[in-house]
This record gives sequence, C-alpha cells and structure tokens, in this order.
Amino acid sequence: MTEPAHVSVRDLRKTYGAFDAVSGVSFEIQRGETFALLGPNGAGKSTTIEILEGYRDRTSGDVTVLGVDPQTAGRDWRARIGMVLQSSGESGNVTVREQVSHFARLYPHPRDVEETIAAVGLTEKAGTRIKALSGGQRRRVDVALGVIGRPELLFLDEPTTGFDPEARRGFWELIRSLKREGTTILLTTHYLDEAAQLSDRAGVIAGGSLIDIGRIDEIGGQDARTPMVRWLDADGAHVERTLEPAALVARLHAALGDGLRDLEVVRPSLEDVYLDLVQAAAPVPALEGEPA
Ligand SMILES: Nc1ncnc2c1ncn2[C@@H]1O[C@H](COP(=O)(O)OP(=O)(O)O)[C@@H](O)[C@H]1O
Ligand SMILES: [Mg+2]
Repeated sequence: MTEPAHVSVRDLRKTYGAFDAVSGVSFEIQRGETFALLGPNGAGKSTTIEILEGYRDRTSGDVTVLGVDPQTAGRDWRARIGMVLQSSGESGNVTVREQVSHFARLYPHPRDVEETIAAVGLTEKAGTRIKALSGGQRRRVDVALGVIGRPELLFLDEPTTGFDPEARRGFWELIRSLKREGTTILLTTHYLDEAAQLSDRAGVIAGGSLIDIGRIDEIGGQDARTPMVRWLDADGAHVERTLEPAALVARLHAALGDGLRDLEVVRPSLEDVYLDLVQAAAPVPALEGEPA
C-alpha cells in the first residue's frame, strides 16, 4: 500500500463575497517532498497555504494535512507543523535568543536553540532585541521560529523576501539539511532560481487556478524547454530552437567558419518557462491607444 500524502488538496475553493480567490485547486505533496507554489501577486498562494495551516476556513473542497482536516485539527497536529507566514516580521522587545528559546519550549522535541540561530545566520545578533534588527534579519527570526519545533511539515510563504544574497544561500543550506532529515516542505517564492534549487515539484497558480504542475524540469512542457541557438553571420541575426544544439553548432561552424559570430546556446530557465506560462494564462492588456 502506498503511504498517504502529507498534504492532499482536492477542488479547493475560497471566495470572498463574489470574488473567487481560489477556484478549484488540486494537488498532493508526498512525505519528504519539497513542493513550490509559484504565481504572480494575488494568484491565491497565501490563501491556499493559510487554509492548509488552519488559519483560514475554505469555502469548499477536501483538504487533509498530515491526515487531518486543518479546520478541525488540534494542538498535537499543530506541534507537528512549522510555518513562516508571509507577513509576520517578528518585532518586539525580547532578544533573538529569548524569542527562539520561548518558542522551543512550546514543542515536545525542539531543535537546539543556538544551532538554530546559527543556521539562520544570526549568531552575532542572538543577544540583540528583535526590534533593533533589519527587515531581512527579522525575517530570519521568522524562519528560526518556523523550524525550531522540528516540524514534519514546513510551510514557507515567501520566506526569503528582504534577504541579501548571502543570507539567501545560507537559507538554501538550511532547507537542504531539513530535506535530508526528511521534512516535507511547501514553499512559495518569487525567486524562480530559489524554487529551481530547492524544489522537487512545483505548481503554477494564476487567478486562483492551477495552470501547470509537475517536476521542476518538466514544468511548461518539453517545447518550452527546447534550447535556443543564436548567432550572427553575413545575413544578420538568427535564432533556431533545437533539441540537439551541439549538432547545430557543429554544422554552423563547418558551414560558416570565421563568419560565425556571437554564438550562444541558451537553455530556458524555470523563470523563462514560468513567465511564458503566466503570460499565456493572463495576457497583459494592451495600453490604451495601442493596437490590440
Ligand atoms: N481577507 C480577504 N478579503 C478579500 N479578499 C482577499 C482577502 N485575502 C486575500 N484576498 C484576495 O484574494 C486574492 C488572493 O490573495 P493571496 O492568496 O494573498 O495571493 P498571493 O499570496 O498569491 O499573492 C487576492 O486578489 C487578494 O486581494
Ligand atoms: Mg502571498
């Protein structure tokens, strides 16, 4: 028998008055998997995550998280889950160490406080009051509080907003170590390189609907991922898409010799593929006065 999914969402809907924020989303996340929910602002990512966390009630659909309906789940369930909400930005008069220690006491098997502070790169700030930290440093406190309880399932809603590049790399290391321990992770991020680095699978959501779902290297389908070869020759600029760029480059070189210039082989990134998907789902309207 296969193990039940850690997260199961079937035909999830959430309406605010007449507005459909989430309109029929379905996906599953298996134990130990890292799943990224990608989409533009307002797509419905936070609404979906907050329903899974038990913070918001759904309008309809079936949801189970660690085998339980979050709408009726109790304290034991909550202790198995870690969350970094989109908008917490811890503030307050206590120090980083005091706050992390306080949270550690709420869980049955917490992580080591100093190790956790080190893992988010705040060792030098452990004795500093949270209100005196920068925005990105406060966000790192949020991440520490999300993982201190050694969660089986971790929800991260735009966890690295405001991080500098070094802090982002540190965060990736932390997530990789959590993955090695077997933590199941649901992540949203606007950094597509981050999603590609960390996730096994992704769902792309736009306007409340899932427009694609699959392994990171399969999102968008094969055509969207076909490499492009660009070059210049006496006739001008050329671009050709091919699954065998090396063969094309060899042919061009044989035919053109020194006449072949500015040659590049470009493999579409997750960001390229994502932008194509999202634009196809919701074409940007032409500006007034422009031809449609
Ligand atoms: N409490 C609310 N009342 C009314 N509309 C809301 C509420 N919360 C979110 N929305 C709307 O639902 C849509 C989805 O929001 P959200 O899930 O936060 O998107 P995302 O996280 O993908 O940026 C947005 O259009 C947002 O304005
Ligand atoms: Mg959001």
